[in-house]
Amino acid sequence: MITLHGATKRYGRTTVLDDVSVSFGGEGITALIGPNGAGKSTLLGLVGRLLHPDAGRVDVDGRDVRSTPSAQLAKTLAVLRQDNHIVARLTVQDIVELGRFPHSRGRLTVADREHIDRAIDYLSLDEYRHRFLDELSGGQRQRAFIAMVLAQDTKYVLLDEPLNNLDLRHMTEIMKLVRRMADELGRRVIVVLHDINFAATYADRIVALRDGRIVADAARDQIMRPDVLRAVYDTTVDVREIDGRPVALYYG
Ligand SMILES: Nc1ncnc2c1ncn2[C@@H]1O[C@H](COP(=O)(O)OP(=O)(O)OP(=O)(O)O)[C@@H](O)[C@H]1O
Ligand SMILES: [Mg+2]
Repeated sequence: MITLHGATKRYGRTTVLDDVSVSFGGEGITALIGPNGAGKSTLLGLVGRLLHPDAGRVDVDGRDVRSTPSAQLAKTLAVLRQDNHIVARLTVQDIVELGRFPHSRGRLTVADREHIDRAIDYLSLDEYRHRFLDELSGGQRQRAFIAMVLAQDTKYVLLDEPLNNLDLRHMTEIMKLVRRMADELGRRVIVVLHDINFAATYADRIVALRDGRIVADAARDQIMRPDVLRAVYDTTVDVREIDGRPVALYYG
């Protein structure tokens, strides 16, 4: 389990994550939703130890991440950041190999190569494998980063807005793939999403943040309600039932 115990993060006098206590890992997919600036990336940053809490602590499988050796944490938890700084002169194959680094330490074994090939295949990137990242479309590049995270072969996978840059088909394909990662590979995924209909369709649990606090944490049907969504986003969201599923309308 990933557990935050009263995790707080401040920048100067501003508290951006406010005494958050929550556990992840019981469900295959948890969607993290909330408005811009709510603290979603900050929360993932604390879990991935890219940031340190000013108060409270984060445990992964019962151990404080602060005292977990980096090599061990990297075998347990993979993070796809919202803003991947593209290292243009790397190929798809290169960055997926980077994902294996916690295991290979730079010397790829046969097993490492199998993980790399499988991840490239899983993301349908075979034809782009020797292309440089700056020779790909935004969506192809996004898939390459997801392949990198997949190759890391961790129990926990944290994805910060993985649907950025993707077209309709690829958004759906990525979410189906995330679902398969959870169902077939047993991964525990926390995924930040802005499209709540994707969250409602694919996640087992939805956690909503606003102003650094958790304002809702429940299964789909308890979240996909106009009153709850208003409390999260401070805007009017209509929810209709289509084919037995709640669908949020927020286009007009
Ligand atoms: N390095 C920083 N210095 C000061 N403030 C920061 C810093 N990083 C983030 N913040 C602030 O912390 C708050 C939470 O940011 P965070 O990136 O966690 O939001 P988010 O929920 O991921 O938003 P988005 O949906 O826009 O990605 C924001 O108000 C942001 O301006
Ligand atoms: Mg963010």
